[in-house]
Amino acid sequence: MSRAKRKLDHIEHALSTGQERTHGFEHIRFVHNSIPDAFVDEVDYSSEIGGLSLSSPIFINAMTGGGGERTKMINQQLAEVASECRIGIAVGSQMAAIRDPEERKSYEIVRQTLPNGVVFANLGSEATVDQAKRAVDMLRASALQIHLNVIQELVMPEGDRDFRHTLSRIEKIKDAIDVPLIIKEVGYGMSRETAETLASIGVQMIDVGGFGGTNFSRIENARRERKLSYFDDWGINTTSSIIEVTEAAKGISVISSGGLQSALDVVKSIALGADATGFAGYFLKILMEEGQTALIEEINFIHKDIKMLMTALGASSLSELKEIPLVIGGSTKEWCEQRGIP
Ligand code: FNR
Repeated sequence: MSRAKRKLDHIEHALSTGQERTHGFEHIRFVHNSIPDAFVDEVDYSSEIGGLSLSSPIFINAMTGGGGERTKMINQQLAEVASECRIGIAVGSQMAAIRDPEERKSYEIVRQTLPNGVVFANLGSEATVDQAKRAVDMLRASALQIHLNVIQELVMPEGDRDFRHTLSRIEKIKDAIDVPLIIKEVGYGMSRETAETLASIGVQMIDVGGFGGTNFSRIENARRERKLSYFDDWGINTTSSIIEVTEAAKGISVISSGGLQSALDVVKSIALGADATGFAGYFLKILMEEGQTALIEEINFIHKDIKMLMTALGASSLSELKEIPLVIGGSTKEWCEQRGIP
């Protein structure tokens, strides 16, 4: 199967398999504050990750590119949304454009649409140093995302089977590029041990890509005759993963993603220790099913709702939000107890 067809299949199956909503945010409850010292108009939700200033903690996470005209149009529309809402955007894996220069247009359109915005380049962990540099240059990228997607590759019939030497490739890339590096999962979450290993080679930004939203095992199984369904329920949910990574790696910028759909998910992510939040499947579904205006409206509402929630909590900035007390229940509590996280 061609790479371009696979990209379109991913979009179609991501929309049809839907978002799972098993990310764990329902286990997180805030302690109500009856006398919050805050004013909606003074709430500032700007953030900073790895030295990059973000006017909003929300960004559009990596999805597409390299599937011809259709993915170019999707990327252009997403980039226009990012521009209108003043949020960042990541492109999907650029390997297609590195292998076939014809495919570059579907990625370059993002930088053309957002000449001064925050744009993340994206490659898989099989990338070489040269490929990483080319991906960054192609977009004048603000940062490079390297995705880890072992389970997706295993379920993908034509996927990789050899995952050796990933860490040494990441380390070489980190040392060679002159923009910040983000290591991200794609829906299986990251553990404390993985975060510690990444921190030990100097990685400073981790996107947990938790379980509970887009499920690549289900997406790839939908393309298989003999299903590897044992991977459908595999992974660390988003809340547990934020707690794991925050606990492991003090001083690392943590990005929450995996099933985020609302301002409440964003606010809970930050209170758990994240510095920014990535939305993928939920935004794609709105764009494809309701259109660009609907997506812009949704993001504008999310921004307003973040201010309302932060006001209720008495937090005027994301650093104050991180100090807000919360109570953890359900399977996230059980997870933390068994993993020895206080
Ligand atoms: C993705 N994702 C992804 N990630 C990545 O690093 N490179 C990629 O090329 C892609 N491609 C891709 C295509 C489609 C159609 C979807 C829906 C997602 C993964 C994405 O960035 C994110 O990590 C996961 O989807 C989990 O977040 P959500 O979708 O639950 O918000």
